[in-house]
Amino acid sequence: MELTPEEKDMAKGKYGKATQKAMEILITLGEIYGAKRLIDISSVQIAGVSYANLNEPGLNWLADMAKDGKVRVFTTLNPAGMDLEEWRKLNISEDFAKKQQRVVEVFGRMGVITTCSCTPYLYGNLPHFGQNIAWSESSAVCFANSVIGARTNREGGPSALSAALVGKTPEYGFHLDENRQPEITVEVKVKIEGTYKFGALGKVLGDKLGKKITYIKGIPKASVEELKSFCASYATYGGVALFHMEGITPDKVKTIPSEITELTEDDIKKALSELDDEIEIDFISLGCPHASLAELEYIAQKLNGKKINPKKEIWITTARPTKQIADRMGFTKMIEDTGAKIAADTCCVVAPIKGRFKGLASDSAKMCYYGSGRNKFAVKLMSMDECIEEALK
Ligand code: F3S
Repeated sequence: MELTPEEKDMAKGKYGKATQKAMEILITLGEIYGAKRLIDISSVQIAGVSYANLNEPGLNWLADMAKDGKVRVFTTLNPAGMDLEEWRKLNISEDFAKKQQRVVEVFGRMGVITTCSCTPYLYGNLPHFGQNIAWSESSAVCFANSVIGARTNREGGPSALSAALVGKTPEYGFHLDENRQPEITVEVKVKIEGTYKFGALGKVLGDKLGKKITYIKGIPKASVEELKSFCASYATYGGVALFHMEGITPDKVKTIPSEITELTEDDIKKALSELDDEIEIDFISLGCPHASLAELEYIAQKLNGKKINPKKEIWITTARPTKQIADRMGFTKMIEDTGAKIAADTCCVVAPIKGRFKGLASDSAKMCYYGSGRNKFAVKLMSMDECIEEALK
């Protein structure tokens, strides 16, 4: 890879040990993927924040980088393993909480904005069309590439931190026009509405077509909430980081692929039936990806004045800034007076809750995937309204 004089100095250690290590990681990655140079990025989003994933070796590595490392671009974090302020209400142990706080404190020392969310684009880490960024969270990567038209590969935690410390990333993969072109056209012949249906659509496409970049026709409209659910599911089931949706996503494609696959009502029904375990539900998860303010308002209106079945637990996960506005608007009180819990900064996958519940209901196909695979819960994909009904039953 060709390096500028400044990059060469960084690689030699003139800018400190952490920057040197970061350059080593970026150069190695660039060489593996055939990048010719490093390019400037406008923001970073780092995953691998939960202590449950990092453990002591991960935390020690971060602490080492924090000795003299400072981020050079705007950088935010993916969800942590708990609500950083109200972790006790989620029954997180004191021991885990202390370790998680150390992780966040270490990131903070490096100048990272310690807002922990998988929807950074909803609260201020919002790139514009065509900007190069280095993000980690798979759903956010898919959203940024596809819905916003920004450009990012799916970074791992260490490569995202390295990009933040250097302010650059190797130019390969989705940063290049030639790798952003659709490979197959999908004609959707069924009406898709609601976050859970968009999640089911992501599962169908991911299961059928894997990582192929699709050009999707037949979706006349989609809200931000529906698209974030779709991105989360599609990235989970297909490992997809980019799609094009006619009339909705902004990238101009060179050619619409002549190979066509159709998707019908039966495909969606099949996906829904595969996420429909016979279970007694004791845990309901909403806010995957993190709930928007509009979703919190909707949930607050639906729950207002009612009581959650005390045998069930419902978490609505969201970003801290979103919760702060919900606090001011009275939505938090309306929701929590019913017995439901708003869990900011965290997510039901990276929180240490394995074994605490048996049956999970969610409007997110991604949450169902990890609820079953990682936390060993039986799962049910339902609409948001059905999830709320279930919590009250
Ligand atoms: Fe976000 Fe966790 Fe879902 S990181 S996308 S809430 S699984």
